[in-house]
Amino acid sequence: MSEPVVEADDLWKGFRSGDKRIEVLRGVDLRLGAGESVSIRGESGSGKTTFVHILAGLEALDRGDLRWRGESLKGRRRASLARDRARFLGMVFQSFYLIPEMNALDNVLMARRMLGTPDRTSRERAREMMERVGLGERMDHLPSQLSGGEKQRVGVARALVNEPAVILADEPTGNLDELTGNAILDLLLSVCREQDTALVLVTHNKEHARRTDRGFLLKLGRFEEPGENGQ
Ligand SMILES: Nc1ncnc2c1ncn2[C@@H]1O[C@H](COP(=O)(O)OP(=O)(O)OP(=O)(O)O)[C@@H](O)[C@H]1O
Ligand SMILES: [Mg+2]
Repeated sequence: MSEPVVEADDLWKGFRSGDKRIEVLRGVDLRLGAGESVSIRGESGSGKTTFVHILAGLEALDRGDLRWRGESLKGRRRASLARDRARFLGMVFQSFYLIPEMNALDNVLMARRMLGTPDRTSRERAREMMERVGLGERMDHLPSQLSGGEKQRVGVARALVNEPAVILADEPTGNLDELTGNAILDLLLSVCREQDTALVLVTHNKEHARRTDRGFLLKLGRFEEPGENGQ
């Protein structure tokens, strides 16, 4: 494998609920190479979203180590981590999380602001991404004026506008019908390939999971690599 972009070693994470404690992740490892795609399946509540939040540096670890391009996130300050996150990774969510008051182009442009690049370059880049996801004619539409599939296209454009090393997509097709979901997956895989962006895809869809380079099943807090390509 090429130099890993993400390395997760022996990740442990639990939560208190009332006077009980649940251990959600119990020693999860992942090495993600540049441009590589992996899928993660697992029952509801198995810890997939928790894992994604940890990879994004949004949730602290109880134990273990997480490195972005070889650099540990341990002891990092929040502000510098937020800046690095904007450069290093993009996220795609099941419920899109677009800002309702902003048009599609400005939603994409928002992600760019964190980088502090000049407005003109950013605007061009955001427009380019909107064209790439097939929404060249929808740039000034508000999210409420877009279909679910179109909203997720904006989500994909926003995630990739900074040319990140990694995309974390947590059930990106979970709120879409089958055909629309398939189109979004095609788009995500092809844009990631074009930009040499690694992809972590959380999905309940076995067909989608099969299309990534490797697949894992999160079970009892650990990854299983069941059979060929996680199936
Ligand atoms: N902040 C929190 N406080 C307490 N418990 C939490 C917290 N976040 C997650 N959990 C618990 O951790 C477990 C894993 O949740 P998580 O959202 O990671 O599951 P998931 O695999 O993404 O499920 P789904 O497929 O339904 O999205 C669940 O039992 C959940 O209730
Ligand atoms: Mg989840």
